[in-house]
Amino acid sequence: MAATASATTSPAFSSRLGFILSSAGSAIGLGCIWKFPYMAAQNGGSAFFMVYLLLAMTLGLALMSVEMALGRASGSGVAGAFLKLGGPRWRWLGRLPMITAFIIMGFYCVVGGWSLAYLFKSLLGQVVSNDAGLLADRFSALISNPWQAIAWHAGFLGLSAFIVLGGVQQGIEKMSRWLMPMLFILMLVLIVRGVTLPGAMAGVEFLLVPDFSKLGFDTVLAALGLAFFSLSLGMGAMVTYGAYLDAGSDLPASAGWVVALTLVACLLGGLLVIPPAFAMGLDPQSGPGLTFISMPSIFAHMPAGDLFAALFFALLLVAALTSSVSLLEVCARFAIDEFGMSRRRAVLGFTLGMFLVGIPAALSFGVWKDATLFGRNAFDLMDYATSNVMLPVSGIATAILGGWFCWRTVASQMRQRAGSRRVLLAVGRVIVAMVAPVAIAVILVRGV
Ligand code: PHE
Repeated sequence: MAATASATTSPAFSSRLGFILSSAGSAIGLGCIWKFPYMAAQNGGSAFFMVYLLLAMTLGLALMSVEMALGRASGSGVAGAFLKLGGPRWRWLGRLPMITAFIIMGFYCVVGGWSLAYLFKSLLGQVVSNDAGLLADRFSALISNPWQAIAWHAGFLGLSAFIVLGGVQQGIEKMSRWLMPMLFILMLVLIVRGVTLPGAMAGVEFLLVPDFSKLGFDTVLAALGLAFFSLSLGMGAMVTYGAYLDAGSDLPASAGWVVALTLVACLLGGLLVIPPAFAMGLDPQSGPGLTFISMPSIFAHMPAGDLFAALFFALLLVAALTSSVSLLEVCARFAIDEFGMSRRRAVLGFTLGMFLVGIPAALSFGVWKDATLFGRNAFDLMDYATSNVMLPVSGIATAILGGWFCWRTVASQMRQRAGSRRVLLAVGRVIVAMVAPVAIAVILVRGV
């Protein structure tokens, strides 16, 4: 079977463009379009964006390059890479990112499921309205109904599994090549309409005009968590994709493209969601529901609103899918490397596991709303624990492994194309070996 073959023979991406688009597909997802807008709104808008930008361009870029280098140098998924390059002491630290990916997938698929549900409902003309109260009620009806929440979660997960079963080149890369360009085009079209609504400019200003009085420790913590999440760092996705990249491709430049595309996508995501919320008098701080409540109301002000709503939710779905496949690939690749499983078994086994882990998250807004631990329901707890604890810990581990234990290997991966990258490499090493572990540790400790 082709799928099994592609699992064992790396590299598997057909070209550098395919690699960049697939990695950007992993990075650009619900983080940009769903999380970023409401987190920006809750954390001071522009101030948050600035901090996020800065973190992504320094720590984010450096760590992404290192992750890709670790993957390519070892030709393994994340656990295998840590083990091969670091030795047996790194075994569990290498498994941590994989476990993180597994948990993230649990709640990621819940939100992916909401996108799928909204796509269906918009095709039936049941989404668009300019009654904010009604939109909020509809959203809460969807997420609080246990059967619906679980069924959509399962549907989204099934779609992801279907793609990953196809293998890296025929599944993941092919999908990304088609869908990523579409994603950007559609975002631009929708933004143009959104920001020209009366009152929307206040939202643009909120997002873009710096207000440093809003800067606080919480802003930095939230921005770091989002930088990791949105760049798919700390959970092995970039290590795993790196393992499928051919030896001749320029690594830092590829990572630079992925970071740049992600930053643009987050900015577009913010411009897509926040200005219309301002225009409609909705509270942009309303949290995870923002995308699902504010967006349908702008479509009510557009000709062919139902069509645009369907396109929007199709795109949200695409963004989520190109990311969820990378989470599933991280886990599947682990089982393939570690237990010599076929791709098919690995994917199906993990899909089942992810379905089960996702159930508490799916029920967190309805029947299990009051089942809380540390004051958070299962969904929030999974989100918080992964973004604010597990990703930073994996980030520190990656930085230390790459910056101290196998810098030579990493550097030789980075040098592959342009030999004279001395300065860049030196700066990169300082960031990876010193700045990243310290900065992440400080933020981690104070945050917890
Ligand atoms: N980066 C993705 C997003 O922003 C989420 C993700 C994290 C995907 C880690 C894969 C790995 O939606």
